[in-house]
Amino acid sequence: MKKNITVINGDGIGPEVTAQSIKVLDAIAHIYNHEFHYNYCLMGADAIDKTGTPLPDDTIESCLNSDAVLFGAIGHPKYDNDPTAKLRPEQGLLKLRKSLQLYANIRPITAYPALQHLSPLKAKSLDGIDFVIFRELTGGIYFGAKSLSDDGSSAHDDCVYTKPEIERIAHLAFSYAQKRRKKLTLVDKANVLETSRLWRKVVQEMAPAYSDVTVDYMFVDNAAMQIILYPKQFDVILTENMFGDIISDEASVLCGSLGLAPSSSVGTGTALFEPIHGSYPQAAGKDIANPLGSILSAAMMLEYFGMPEEAAVVRKAVEWTLQNKFVTKDIDSINFYFTSTIGDLVADYVSNKITGEVNQTNIELRKSTII
Ligand code: IPM
Ligand code: MN
Repeated sequence: MKKNITVINGDGIGPEVTAQSIKVLDAIAHIYNHEFHYNYCLMGADAIDKTGTPLPDDTIESCLNSDAVLFGAIGHPKYDNDPTAKLRPEQGLLKLRKSLQLYANIRPITAYPALQHLSPLKAKSLDGIDFVIFRELTGGIYFGAKSLSDDGSSAHDDCVYTKPEIERIAHLAFSYAQKRRKKLTLVDKANVLETSRLWRKVVQEMAPAYSDVTVDYMFVDNAAMQIILYPKQFDVILTENMFGDIISDEASVLCGSLGLAPSSSVGTGTALFEPIHGSYPQAAGKDIANPLGSILSAAMMLEYFGMPEEAAVVRKAVEWTLQNKFVTKDIDSINFYFTSTIGDLVADYVSNKITGEVNQTNIELRKSTII
């Protein structure tokens, strides 16, 4: 198959983690006879520096004309620490989500046995964790009207949801649950918020059409606790934009590291694939960031392209690196491998260049292919 992919490296560690995904995608293309074409575009602080805007029009144009978008990370401390900044990198990502109508952000949470020791949870709570968060991505408080009073002493952010906005993502989440363990948990704050009560009403109305799915309703504060206490109870979590942002970072620690968590964002047009993590500016350019969140997002992209076998091979390669302790600094701060080495190893595995037992002592830092 031939696919055109817009690649947005973005800020901080974005370029170095995305480069590893490209290595892996190229290896897949080679083995499975696909043609992947990449068009590199700007967004975020990088785009502000180079063009004066966080999302240049040609980036939107390229995304709209592509089969998918692979995105790295966004954000820079010079904006985080300046609440008065009018232009902010994140505006680029929010505008892109809106322009591509990416209304559903899908974040799978998987616990890897090889990383259990890193989780703050006891091993017995971790076995078999497998749930997916469906986060609404183009509405709610992120996109409502906002204002700051002239004297700067008061501010407001509106949270608005419409029935169709809730229905379209709920349909996706219900159908997804039907293909899994058939349980859907709506996470909201219906005891306080009018928007949450609308979410509950709409989901309740839709539930009979998905009678094989058990629906559960949970307040977000309780959900935050249940994710830690008893994560196995979840199959598909459906929630609004901001709650989804918060609980997905929380849930990612169950995997062992935020650096491993992938996501896909889908809607009416081109889909976008990005790791959950941020731009991690302290690590930028040091070749120490974990590229697996990006590589696993690329695997989600392959699945979206209708290449399940290719996606499975990438996931298998990732598991192989973890089992053999080829891990980045976030996972093992003493015996760690570099970002680029992990990318080489995953690509080598995918290309069948790794055969037989691995001789750990023969693997040198930055020399992944010598095994
Ligand atoms: C995410 C990020 C973004 C969000 C930021 C960078 C705007 O945290 O994708 O989870 O809040 O949606
Ligand atoms: Mn987030």
